[in-house]
Parts: sequence; structure tokens; C-alpha cells
Amino acid sequence: MEGGMKVRFEPFGIIRQVEKGVTVLQAAIEAADEIGVKIESFCGGRGTCGKCRIIATGGLSAPTVMELKGLTEEELQKGYRLACQAVIESDVVVMVPEESRTSQVSILAEGMARGSVQLEPWVRRHALHVPAATLQNQIADLQNVARTWNEHQDGDLTFTLPALRQLPFALRERDGHITLISVDNQVVHIEAGDGPEHILGIAFDIGTTTVVGYLMDLESGERLAVSSLLNPQTDYGADVVSRILFSTQSDSGLQTLQREIVGALNKIISNTTHAAAVVPENIYGMTVVGNTTMYHLFLGINPAALGRMPYVPAVSAALCSTAKELGITIHPEAHVWVLPNIAGWVGADTVGVILATDLPNHEDIALAIDIGTNGEMVLGSRQRLIACSTAAGPAFEGAQLSCGMRAADGAIDIVSIDGDVHWHAIGESAPRGICGSGLVDLIAEMLRAGIIDSTGMMQDGQALRANGQGQLAGRIRQEGRQREFLLVASSEGAGGRPIKVTQRDVRELQLAKGAIRAGIQILMKELGIGPEGVKRVYLAGAFGNYIRPASALAIGLMPRFPNAKIIPVGNAAGSGARMALLSLSVRERASRIPNQVEYLELSGRPDFQEEFAGAMLF
Ligand code: FES
Repeated sequence: MEGGMKVRFEPFGIIRQVEKGVTVLQAAIEAADEIGVKIESFCGGRGTCGKCRIIATGGLSAPTVMELKGLTEEELQKGYRLACQAVIESDVVVMVPEESRTSQVSILAEGMARGSVQLEPWVRRHALHVPAATLQNQIADLQNVARTWNEHQDGDLTFTLPALRQLPFALRERDGHITLISVDNQVVHIEAGDGPEHILGIAFDIGTTTVVGYLMDLESGERLAVSSLLNPQTDYGADVVSRILFSTQSDSGLQTLQREIVGALNKIISNTTHAAAVVPENIYGMTVVGNTTMYHLFLGINPAALGRMPYVPAVSAALCSTAKELGITIHPEAHVWVLPNIAGWVGADTVGVILATDLPNHEDIALAIDIGTNGEMVLGSRQRLIACSTAAGPAFEGAQLSCGMRAADGAIDIVSIDGDVHWHAIGESAPRGICGSGLVDLIAEMLRAGIIDSTGMMQDGQALRANGQGQLAGRIRQEGRQREFLLVASSEGAGGRPIKVTQRDVRELQLAKGAIRAGIQILMKELGIGPEGVKRVYLAGAFGNYIRPASALAIGLMPRFPNAKIIPVGNAAGSGARMALLSLSVRERASRIPNQVEYLELSGRPDFQEEFAGAMLF
């Protein structure tokens, strides 16, 4: 780049030329492949999460208001800046500290499905032997194939133009012995002989944070490979609201986010086909689930209306497109089915959970909860199903907590207090922060030990000391106007940084758990039942899988259900996508789910605030 500014990223020693006026974060996103790491950017560059801290020397703009708010005086003096705020004005050296690097998130691929799925493929292989045309019988190739087809098979077939282009060659190569591949009764591929070795499909669960792909053999139903990635859209914000904002703030925002997600799916396709030693061209069917925002962004449909009242999607029905139309690198005529959404904030991922848990066929009342940055809940049985969504707040995925992080290497995921504090960090590495399941554990233990009371108020050290809890008392500090609890001392934390939980963090968790609990209460009220009426509770998603049910109950995230079995179902959304890939009737069932599930908009309920206030208490 002529006349560009030089940025040297340390400790990687990578030098990039960038245009004057870009932020350090933008420069780092562009250089991510070379430097091999990404800078955390939970808030998508709005300067509010404080996760993109770097240490810089050289020509940067003066600290912004957000930096003056988010960094201490001492940090500013040491050269700390927020990468999303610092604008490059001349050559600069940027040190990316370990705690600001995105590390590989633990991705939950396994999911439970209730009952087995019977193979009922919508991608099929048909072997035909077509007699050759003669001078006496001058029949066109297509007519000849249709006649042979009608002699042996039921139903009509249509042909794509690319398949018709293959027909004359295939028909003459092996004396009329051909194989047709049909997708939804449309022939998309014709080959001489027995055709491809495998007929494959791939199912995707596009999460806000992670993307998982399952490569399946559509003739045996066997799972051949699984691969997952961090959703690359996280560079533009950790939650759906930041992504909606990004997609609408510039002309190219939506295209950028669509390109990122399609790139991630193609990478997963490459990884899985490589692992299974098959070719992507033999993938003829694909299913996708994701929340309503992911649905819009994947299809390149403007999601702006989802972000403002009355929060309606542009499209909510199941949609079918082709791989070539979406830029997916499988067979170009493959059908890509995106499962339907239930409402603006209850998406196709919840449809996947409903398919996997088979809620519409439950005799007894069951509750399915999927918690991420939002909490989606579905309650009911075959008589009636109701769904709602609450903004669970960012607490469970680590954003906006002083030391919060995703469930990645170095995240504290288990905590116990027994006279003093014991913790476990993912990957057995030096702790970098605390993730959702760790925070729920910690708060449950702090409650049990009397460090916080039922209102969420953190006690002072004196009260604990008087109670004979000297070790714990030593961990309480007054920092400015708020108290904080030291979980990991700086001597043990990665990069010499302590890990603490502040009074504000406790409040964030209270907001999140209060919203989920209030949602459950209102669903029960709507069905006219109490907790004793619920017979099964399905906990879906990574958070539901790793959270300890005892801790969730201790903090009151959900009521105590005296007659219910609590069943973690893992990535049930992904299971639903796989089921719809393997069976036409499951796919059709998925299309009917939005009509079977009533959506309850909590912000329109006059009793929500009341329930929410009560549910905030521990
Ligand atoms: S503060 Fe920079 S990305 Fe959030």
C-alpha cells in the first residue's frame, strides 16, 4: 500500500501496511491470518466491553472518552489502549497481550435426540438402464429417460439445465446405464454407470458464537465427520444486537457478515470432507439452523427490523435455496434448507431443539431451555406449546463482566468454596477469566458461604471475619464505590492479572437469571401450572450442558421442579438440523412447528416486570 502506515504486531513480529485512519482493531482483523490470533471484540468495536486492550507505542489518536472510562490512569500510563478506539495516525507498534487474544472456544457438537430418526431421504440415487434410440425409434434423450423412468418408478421428475447438459454424454458412455441424483424430486446430476460413491449431506448449527457442521452419509444415515469454528462474525460484535447494528450501519455491513459466515461454512465443509476422505461435490443436501438474526445474515436479508420494536423478522418461513446461489462450495445445485423461525427472538435453533426433544409429542408437560446471550424457553406438551425469549444479558457468555470470557482455554468453569476458594480452568492453563458456568458456580458458592446475601449484596470483610471466615474475608476488597471478591490472585492469573468478581458482575448475573426465571414463571402461569406440573426439563446448548444443575437451582435460575427429571441435551439444535437432513417428514414437521408453538412476547406482558423483580433475588 503506497504511503501506508506501518503497524508491527508483537510478539508475532508481523508488520502490516495500513491506511491512515483505520483503528488498530480493523488492522488486526485484516492481519488475523498472518498473526495467527484475533483480538477479542465482544462489543463489536463500540468501546464498551473493554476486552480489546492492547499496549501501543507510536502514532495513535488521543484516547477517546470510552478509553478514559474503560482504562485506569495507571493502565493509560503504561500504554494500554482499546484497539477498537485507537486510530492509527502514523507508524505504530502494537503488543497484543495474551488476555486480549481470542482463543479456541470449547464447542459442543454432541446433542441428544429423543428416539431414532428413520431415514427418509429427500436426496436420492436412481439407477436406470435406458435403451438406445434407433433409426426406427428416434426418441429424444430426455423423453427416453422419462419413458424408462415411468416404466419402473412412480412420480414425476424434473431436471435442472446443468443436469440436462450432462445427459447426452452420460447416456452414451455405458450403453444407457446411468445414475440420476434427485433432490426434492428434481434431477440435479446425471452420471454414466453407478454414480458417485457417496451421496452426502451436511447439517449446520450457526450459533452467534460458534458454528458446527455435521457431514452425513444420506444413504446409511451415518455421521462421517464433525467440525466446528468460532463464528467469524464475532469480530464485529459478540451478540446479535451488535451484528444487527454492524449490518445496517454501512452499505457493505450485511455483505461482510454474510461473506464471513459463508466462508466459515465452506471451511467446515473442507475440514469435514477432508477428514472423511470424500469430495464436497457429492454433498447434495444441506440444512441450517440458527437464531433469527443468524438466519437473516446467512441469507443476506436485512435484519434491521429485528433490532427495533416490534422486533419482527423480514422472513420467518423455512426457505430453500441452492448452494451456488449462496456461494456454498458443495454440488452447485444442492438444496440448502434453512429451517423456519418461530418469532423475531425465537429462531430455527429453537425449532431444532423442539425437533430433537420431540416436545410436540410429549404426553406430560416438559420445559426446554436454551441459554446463550438470549434465553429461549418452550413449555408444554402435545396439547399446547408456548415459547418465549428473554435477553439473558451477556453474563452467561462472559461479555461485560469485569473478568468474563467465553468457555475457552483459561476460562474458570468450576468453582467451589470450602473455607477457601478452589477453581478449575479449561485446558488446565493459567486462568484468564471466568465463563458462564463458572460464574453460576461461584455465585452459588458465595451465597452458600454467606459472602453475598439474598439481595445479591456483597458482605464486607469484617462481617465474614466475625463469622470465622478469615480466608474468605481477605479476598473482599473495596475498590472505589464497589466491593469485589478476589477469585485468583495476580500471581496465579495469566499475564499477572487477577481475576475478580465485582458487585456489578453479581448484579449482571442477577439480571440474566432474573429474566430467565421470570420467563419460566410466566410460561407456567400461561399454562396454568406450577413447578410440580413439569415432568421433564431439557437443558440445551453448551451452557446448559456444562452448568451444574445444583448451582443453577441454588441461584434460582429456574424454580425447583419437584417431579421433573433434568436432562442436559447438548447441542439439541444441531441434532434437529441433522434429523431434518435425514428425513423428509422431519423437515416437513419442522416447517409446521411455527404454527404449533404460540409465541409469548414478554415485553408486552404487564406482569413481566413484577416477576422479574422477584426473580432477581437469590
Ligand atoms: S471495547 Fe473494543 S471491542 Fe469492545
